[in-house]
Amino acid sequence: MKTNSKRFLSLFLAFAMLFTAVMPSFAQSDVSSWAEYWSSEEAQAGIVMFPGADDSQRNFSWYSEDESTPEILLSLNADMSNAEKFTGYSVETYSGNYANKVTVDSLESGKKYYYQCVSGNFSSEIYSFETDADSSFTAMFVTDVHVSYDDKNPDHLPETAYNFDFTVNKALEKNEDISLILSAGDQASEGLQCEYIGFAATPNLKSIPVATTIGNHDRKGVDYKTFSNMPNQQEMTVSSYVGSNYYFVKNNVLFLVMDSNNSSMVDHRKFVKQAVKDNPDVNWKVMMFHHDLHGGRIPRRESENELLRILWAPIADEFGIDLVLMGHSHYYTVSNVLYNNKTVSELTNGGSVTDPEGTVYMVSGSINRPRDDADISLGENVGIEYLTQDKIFNLIDFTENTITVKSYAIESDTCFSSFTIEKTDKDGGHSYKMPAFYNFIIRFIGMIVAIFNNMGVYGDLTDKGYNVNFFEHIFG
Ligand SMILES: [Fe+2]
Ligand SMILES: [Fe+2]
Repeated sequence: MKTNSKRFLSLFLAFAMLFTAVMPSFAQSDVSSWAEYWSSEEAQAGIVMFPGADDSQRNFSWYSEDESTPEILLSLNADMSNAEKFTGYSVETYSGNYANKVTVDSLESGKKYYYQCVSGNFSSEIYSFETDADSSFTAMFVTDVHVSYDDKNPDHLPETAYNFDFTVNKALEKNEDISLILSAGDQASEGLQCEYIGFAATPNLKSIPVATTIGNHDRKGVDYKTFSNMPNQQEMTVSSYVGSNYYFVKNNVLFLVMDSNNSSMVDHRKFVKQAVKDNPDVNWKVMMFHHDLHGGRIPRRESENELLRILWAPIADEFGIDLVLMGHSHYYTVSNVLYNNKTVSELTNGGSVTDPEGTVYMVSGSINRPRDDADISLGENVGIEYLTQDKIFNLIDFTENTITVKSYAIESDTCFSSFTIEKTDKDGGHSYKMPAFYNFIIRFIGMIVAIFNNMGVYGDLTDKGYNVNFFEHIFG
C-alpha cells in the first residue's frame, strides 16, 4: 500500500511535466516539384479522407473560404455520371474560414468509387478510392509526422509536408494495396491549420483513409478539432477539447483510437468497454494512442513511461487488446508480449507468437524529427529496438488469424524488423481477470488530474491568443 501511495503522488506530480517535448530539426532539400502543387487551391483545400464507422462509410473534411452546405458527389463512374449527392455541414475555424464535414455511406465492398468535394464556389478534382474485397488488408502505420510551420523559414512547412507525401509513396512502392493509414499523433508541431493542410496535402490521403490520433503537439493549438472528422466519437466527461476517443471497424479488426493527452481513465475504460461490447465478432482489437509506454530511453521519458504504464496497461489487459500502436518518443521500440506490465512471452525480430496471453506495444519513429540519441538502455520488457535518423514506416498485414508487422527505413531501403502475432481462435490467449480495486482508484485519480491538466492547457492557449470557452475546454 505504501508503494501505491507513492504512485498516486507521482501521478499528480508527473503530469505537470508530462506533455512537452524538445526535438532536433530535419531538413529536406529538393522539393521543387512539390512547391508548385503546394501553392494550388487544391492542395490548400486540405482534403482528407478519414475512416467511416466501418468500411461501408468514409468521412471527409476540407477547408473553404466561404460558408456553405458542403457536398460530396459520389459515383461508380470516372466521368461522375449518375453521381449520388451526400451533404454535410461546415464549422467556422479559428482562422475565420470554414471546415467542411461530410460522411458518405452505403458503400459496397470490392468497388471503386469516384468523388468530388463541393463547397460554395469550390469544386475539387475528381478522386477515387476502393473498398476492400476480402477480409485481409494492409495498413500503413506512421507516427510523429510533425508537419511544422516556422515563421523564420517559409520553406519549412511545405518541406515537412513533402516528407510525409514522400514516405507514403515509399510505402506504396512496397505495397500498392495499402487501404488504411494509421498515424499515432503529432501530425502537426504547433496544432496549426496550415500544418494540417500540409499533412492532408499528399494526394494519397484523398484515396486512402487516414486514422489520426491526438498528440501532445496537436494540442498546442486548437485546429485539430476542425481538421478531423472521426466516426463513433465518445462524449467524454473530461475531454481534451480538440478531440476525443473514437473507434471504427475494418473487416475483422476493431481500431480503438484513444487520446492519451487525457488521463481521464474513467472515460477511457468506459469507451473501450462499450466499443468491445458493441463489436463482439471482431478477431482483432488494435488500440492506438500517442504517448509511448516503453523505450523512452532518456530518464525523464522513462519516468513518464512508468506513469503511463500504470494508467493504460490495465485497460489493454482487461479487454484483451492484441496490439497497441504509439509514438511520442520517436524511438522505434517493440515490447515483448506483456500482461500486467510483465513479459509473458518474448518477441524477437523475425519471430512470431501464437495465442499470446497479453499485448504487444509498438512505438514507431518520427518522419520529420527522427532520433537516435539514446541515453539509457531499455528495460527487460523490450523485444525489438532500432535507432536511426532515417524515416520509418510500417506495413501491417491483417488476416483472419495473423497480424504481421514489417518495418522499413527509407534511405537504407531495408526491412529492419518484422514480427507476427497469430491466434488460433478469436480470443487467442487472452483470458478475462477481474481488475484489481487499485485500478479503480487509479482511473479516478486520472480523471481529476485530467481536469487540472486541461486548466493548464487552457492557460497556454489563451496566452497564445486563442479565444476558447473555459468550461468547453475543460469538459469538452
Ligand atoms: Fe512527436
Ligand atoms: Fe509527442
